[in-house]
Amino acid sequence: MRTQVTKAIFPVAGLGTRFLPATKSVPKEIMTLVDRPLIQYAIDEAREAGIKEFIFVTSRGKSALENYFDHAPELERELRKKGKDDLLHTLRQTNMDSGAIAYIRQHKALGLGHAVWCAHRLIANEPFAVILPDDVIAGEPGCLRQMVDAYADTGGSMVATMEVAPDQAASYGILDVEDTIGPLVSVNGMVEKPSPGSAPSRLAVIGRYILAPSVLRNLRNQKSGASGEIQLTDAIAAEIHQGRNVFGYRFAGERYDCGSKAGFLQATVAFGLGRDDLRKELTAYLNEVIAIRGVAQ
Ligand code: G1P
Repeated sequence: MRTQVTKAIFPVAGLGTRFLPATKSVPKEIMTLVDRPLIQYAIDEAREAGIKEFIFVTSRGKSALENYFDHAPELERELRKKGKDDLLHTLRQTNMDSGAIAYIRQHKALGLGHAVWCAHRLIANEPFAVILPDDVIAGEPGCLRQMVDAYADTGGSMVATMEVAPDQAASYGILDVEDTIGPLVSVNGMVEKPSPGSAPSRLAVIGRYILAPSVLRNLRNQKSGASGEIQLTDAIAAEIHQGRNVFGYRFAGERYDCGSKAGFLQATVAFGLGRDDLRKELTAYLNEVIAIRGVAQ
């Protein structure tokens, strides 16, 4: 019987400079897609995949994120008094079990690999998930659930993957593909942010990982790589050289790059259109805007 994946690391230490000035006082992960903070989508996906322990790797200025996960008894009391049961229900869905969340500080911005390594004392000799909340994935079931199910057969380590345009490859970790069987890709190697023209494939790593504990040992010795940072991709690639299996998983679903403004706006529109209470009004507005633009052009 394979060990269940019950812990997930959420690297949330980044400064979010692309969203300044908003991120001057609001952590990027608290910024809202429709009416839920980015981090809530990641948490919901993790819960659906069976995650029980949530490890946030944070940095200075992220206290709003920690506060978000506290229960809000005054607010709950107020909503109960006013009979607003639907809002009470929405609020309760965000409550986390006592002791289910841990916060670890990344004291220096040394890269994603370093951020993940900072959580090593909270991971015993067990597989664990990593979720990058910037990558929002709409899928049913969620991307991590799909991966956990596939991992039950494969073991090893697994990264979510999807095709990107060749001119986008330099922004991602890219897989060197050995073979593809359905959604599973067996991987020969991985390169973080390959220089233009040198990408080994079009399959990019997207921010969902299930990792063997040996990746944490590799991270301890990992030298800085692309962009002068300690890269998670390099520590996973080392697994392959050490004779352990690494798979890509071509998930079913739509991924939004909420680390970019355009991606965030696209996700806002897509999730807005996905909501019964907003679809009609938003569709009418979008049609109107497009019609006006069409005339103006
Ligand atoms: C990180 C990873 C990269 C991955 C990407 C997915 O890069 O290092 O391998 O492809 O997330 O979003 P970042 O976006 O932090 O530069």
